[in-house]
Amino acid sequence: MGEVVESEIPNGDAANGDGAPPEEPSAEAGELPLSKSARKRLLKQQRREEKKAEKKKAAKEEKRRKAEERRREWQEKISSVATEEERAAIEESRLAARRERMEARAGERERKRQKLTKGMEEGQRIVVDLDFPGLMAPAEINSLMQQIMYCYAVNGRCDSPCHLCLTGCTGEIATQLQRLPGYDKWLIRKESKPYPEVFHDQKDSLVYLTADSDNVLEELDPSKIYIIGGLVDRNRWKGITMKKAKEDGIKTAKLPISDYLKMSTSMVLTVNQVVEILLRFLETKDWKNSFFQVIPQRKRCEAEGDEEEDEYDGEMKKICIEKSPEELE
Ligand SMILES: C[S@@+](CC[C@H](N)C(=O)[O-])C[C@H]1O[C@@H](n2cnc3c(N)ncnc32)[C@H](O)[C@@H]1O
Repeated sequence: MGEVVESEIPNGDAANGDGAPPEEPSAEAGELPLSKSARKRLLKQQRREEKKAEKKKAAKEEKRRKAEERRREWQEKISSVATEEERAAIEESRLAARRERMEARAGERERKRQKLTKGMEEGQRIVVDLDFPGLMAPAEINSLMQQIMYCYAVNGRCDSPCHLCLTGCTGEIATQLQRLPGYDKWLIRKESKPYPEVFHDQKDSLVYLTADSDNVLEELDPSKIYIIGGLVDRNRWKGITMKKAKEDGIKTAKLPISDYLKMSTSMVLTVNQVVEILLRFLETKDWKNSFFQVIPQRKRCEAEGDEEEDEYDGEMKKICIEKSPEELE
């Protein structure tokens, strides 16, 4: 619980982290004229991802080594047993235990599938708007994919999953989504059209969640469709979702963070954090609890200087101090 995909480093202070206005993107993703600080952040992110890949490789190797060791131990054990019958009995009990484990796993998968199907039929509708062509560098799209994967996993672990929908799945985004493991089988709504087209007959039900809104989200209304901007931009494109919602003529709202946390600046969360907060709130009806479960303590109070997470933690530190009861009154 509370784990976040950290490759998105929120930066609510400035357009691109150094106070300069965002530069216009070129038509082609991957050739964005990034500011110096944005380039630095991207490099850092790349290094983080390289480290992560190395760790993953080492973990895989360790798993393989352990499996090999277990196999060898098993062979030794079985060959030390006296009779053929004893060997057959041991082998049979091993296979039975394996069958049991596999059946348990299949049962678990089936329960999850049923839960997600129910969520698709009657769960709270949450949309991730992926229609931001050309605004993200490849590494940012990659982070976004990790966040979407995380959203799907968290939804699957909920007792009552929501109806998760991805809109604007075209071009590079669609290509990258297809690369996610098992994506074809995901129980999630996938739309290539942008959200105004998908929900053209339900415009009044749409609420774009954006940190730049003046409206505070008090409750989640089951009849509403909440939209989250599918962007990893470290708020380089500050206000873009607010502008989009205004242009599309739909309602907006921000999470009630300042009611529960002290903040010295605006708070822009990652896509997966917002999805997880909404899911927690649906379960608990308690914003404070939801914020504190999703934004972990270590992220709030960690000392500065952590090579891997310093920017992220710096932002979290600014805002994640619990308000005293007097302040909450
Ligand atoms: C990384 S942010 C994108 C920031 C982007 N510059 C923008 O203008 O929205 C990802 C999305 O999470 C949602 N979000 C993040 N923080 C939020 C907050 N405090 N209140 C409501 N929604 C938020 C918004 O939908 C936002 O588009």
